[in-house]
Amino acid sequence: MASVLVFQGAVIHSTGPEALEVLENATLVVTDGHISAFYKSHAEIPADAIPTTAQVHHLPQGDFLIPGFVDTHNHAPQWPMRGLGQGLHILDWLNEITFPVEARFADPEYATRVYEQTVADFLRQGITTASYYSSRHLEGTKILADICHRKGQRAFVGKCNMDRSAPDYICESSATASLRETEECIRHIRALPGCNNADTALIKPVVTPRFAISCTPELLQGLGEIVKRDDTLAIQTHFNEAQQEINATTELFPQFGGSEANLYESYGLLTARSILAHCTIMTDHEKERIGALKCGVAHCPVANMTVGGGFMVAPVRDFLRRGIKVGLGTDSGGGWASHMLAVIRQAMIASNAREVLSDGHDKGLSIEEVFYLATLGGAKVLCMEDRIGSFAVGKEFDAVWVATTTALQTAMTPREETDSLRRVFEKYVMTGDDRNVAHVYVRGRRVAGTRTGS
Ligand code: GUN
Ligand code: FE
Repeated sequence: MASVLVFQGAVIHSTGPEALEVLENATLVVTDGHISAFYKSHAEIPADAIPTTAQVHHLPQGDFLIPGFVDTHNHAPQWPMRGLGQGLHILDWLNEITFPVEARFADPEYATRVYEQTVADFLRQGITTASYYSSRHLEGTKILADICHRKGQRAFVGKCNMDRSAPDYICESSATASLRETEECIRHIRALPGCNNADTALIKPVVTPRFAISCTPELLQGLGEIVKRDDTLAIQTHFNEAQQEINATTELFPQFGGSEANLYESYGLLTARSILAHCTIMTDHEKERIGALKCGVAHCPVANMTVGGGFMVAPVRDFLRRGIKVGLGTDSGGGWASHMLAVIRQAMIASNAREVLSDGHDKGLSIEEVFYLATLGGAKVLCMEDRIGSFAVGKEFDAVWVATTTALQTAMTPREETDSLRRVFEKYVMTGDDRNVAHVYVRGRRVAGTRTGS
């Protein structure tokens, strides 16, 4: 028999970059993890719409549902080093802080212990979908995919490719070995229960060249061939993150005239399924190319303003103006946040800086826009907007049940009786934290939350 869940109460989601739908008394019917009916008011509900066998949840006053957060850029092995090395330039930060930490994931026991906590923490923050870079280790990457699958987090999981410009203790031995392990990792993920269909899989593989600096031309070429043979595969890499990185890339690949768009395109790595992290220093040519090739941008403002090389502000308003897909990323280690609310707030701050830097030309982002980026915008970057990112009949039920009672003792601005729902939402987005996350659902399954039950 089908499992039917019904949620009645306040629902808030984005229907477009600036369009926030705020519903006081909606009803969502979830059948086997999929939204089978969505009534926007009581008056719309037909007499026999709710089966007698359904488990019905009534959201109390002040509680509301939002779509689960989509984290488009996340280094799982960096979760235990968040906050370290702030202020270092990117290549120094990698050598001094990051590589020694990632090297520990050669040990499957360490990987298991830390990834269990990592995935649980991101779920607790309401991140229902994450696009993960693992370390370069095959076994550790399989462990990460298995843990996401078991805990029920929707995820893209990629084994990092890095066969040069890294210390021996972490560098892969050859392009051939890196490619072989990448293919094995893809096979492993697709063999997980329910994951052999590229559309419906909960866990999906993603081809993950760390960045051009860490990959030989032979490796980039081989990864491009894997993607060409299988156009369902997503790709993720770092793209124009920082000046130090751009300079080193130009030195290693002088033939591309300083353009990372030309570089990655020439290896067949820019497609509609490419997730390009950071994109802070972008020429018009590069914006045009990634727009024309329908790539998505993973905007990581917390990382961009703490590690990497100063105060880097991605031109998000210009990306949106050009119709380029944009989502948000915690980045995990490149920064300090495992919660999307921090990234949302920093995206607003970064956009205000951009407004000043552009003499008012690139207006700051509104709360509607940053919330869109964290949900539906991210879903688009992952080419999953038909399944997640907002509530609609046919989509899967990935959601956060937000609680705002003052008794929770969270950092959130207290809700007052006279507050409109829109106002409570704004208080939560700007000041709430994980203690406001009562329940988290992925495909209808409860996977985390501070309240027991349901
Ligand atoms: N560039 C290459 N690797 C990394 C990484 O791990 N984090 C960040 N922020 N940038 C990178
Ligand atoms: Fe990163």
